[in-house]
Amino acid sequence: MKAWVINNFGIDELSLEDRRVPAIGESEVLVKFHAASINFRDLMVVEGTYNPKMKLPAVPFSDGAGEVVEVGSSVTKWKAGDRVMPIFAQLWFDGDPNAEIRKSSLGAGSSWEGTLREFGAFNESGLVAIPSHLSYQEAATLPCAALTAWHSLVASGDVKPGETVVTLGTGGVSVFALQFAKAAGARVIATSSSEEKLERLRELGADETINYREREDWDKAILEITGGRGADHVIEVGGSGTLPRSINATRFGGHIAMIGALTGAASFNPTSVFMKAVRVQGIYVGHRRMFEEMARAIEVNQLRPVVDSTFGFGDVKAALHHMKDGKHFGKVAFDFDRN
Ligand SMILES: NC(=O)c1ccc[n+]([C@@H]2O[C@H](COP(=O)([O-])OP(=O)(O)OC[C@H]3O[C@@H](n4cnc5c(N)ncnc54)[C@H](OP(=O)(O)O)[C@@H]3O)[C@@H](O)[C@H]2O)c1
Repeated sequence: MKAWVINNFGIDELSLEDRRVPAIGESEVLVKFHAASINFRDLMVVEGTYNPKMKLPAVPFSDGAGEVVEVGSSVTKWKAGDRVMPIFAQLWFDGDPNAEIRKSSLGAGSSWEGTLREFGAFNESGLVAIPSHLSYQEAATLPCAALTAWHSLVASGDVKPGETVVTLGTGGVSVFALQFAKAAGARVIATSSSEEKLERLRELGADETINYREREDWDKAILEITGGRGADHVIEVGGSGTLPRSINATRFGGHIAMIGALTGAASFNPTSVFMKAVRVQGIYVGHRRMFEEMARAIEVNQLRPVVDSTFGFGDVKAALHHMKDGKHFGKVAFDFDRN
């Protein structure tokens, strides 16, 4: 089988190699991958900024979708032909994460190889069924970005109809958060650096949009829109560069899902966190039970992930450069059957 392998860091250093199709143990299933998708983390992994001490060689990417082609003798959960997605952290089924669980995340250089390969062997407990209305490419966007948004808003945020949710930018996590917030009956204030993307956010249901390049004090804009009260939830993907404004834009007792670090350093004064009694909750993707609940909600609501573009298996480098340029809206996916 073919697999993309990191031997040295850098997008253009990735190499396409021949590997043996993995043999399965009695409690494992063999998955033929038909699709994958990129997360910001994958870009960092490939470039060596996620963990410069990562063990190489490594097969990158956490997210994929495929078909069960063989099952071990004790497997009861799956049969050949089932359409599945591997869970992000293969040992996280419920409850809080821990160091061992974190090491079981796919595609970051541990013994848990990533999804950028034609076949993978997974324990039967490490997979979730694909919602029936989704293509493999759409399903491949769910394990990390969608689950992170779901965890932030639903599992941690307990979002209620009528509440106000702020999303930052138009990357994978933020666009899923917009979709889940609208499905939950919330009002969404979404930001982007591009007028064209703001228009697409409105088409997806965003109630208010703010260009954060033109309106650098976007936190004040959110306070104006909410009549001075502030938002109930902020989906914080920017990190230290956006957090002070996110806190300012949040209501007293509101919730900030602390997810990402897309921006560089900025000073951070924690005073407003306690003076406003804001709940800042660190989010690490999500466990299998959350994933199953999210997949059910996606199916019931017939939600479709926003796939910005789809590349062939051979076009991994072009796809990563596209992602790095930041021109995408939503998710960048791969169709392995294309070439
Ligand atoms: N904690 C977790 O479990 C977890 C899981 C998934 C992702 N993450 C993290 O969450 C972050 C987002 O991930 P992603 O996969 O959604 O990334 P992505 O798809 O690469 O998102 C990139 C987009 O973010 C927006 N952005 C960049 N700088 C911004 C700023 N200063 N203010 C507002 N928006 C800004 C831009 O949107 P516009 O072009 O519209 O301006 C850009 O297109 C990353 O840091 C990632 O590592 C964490």
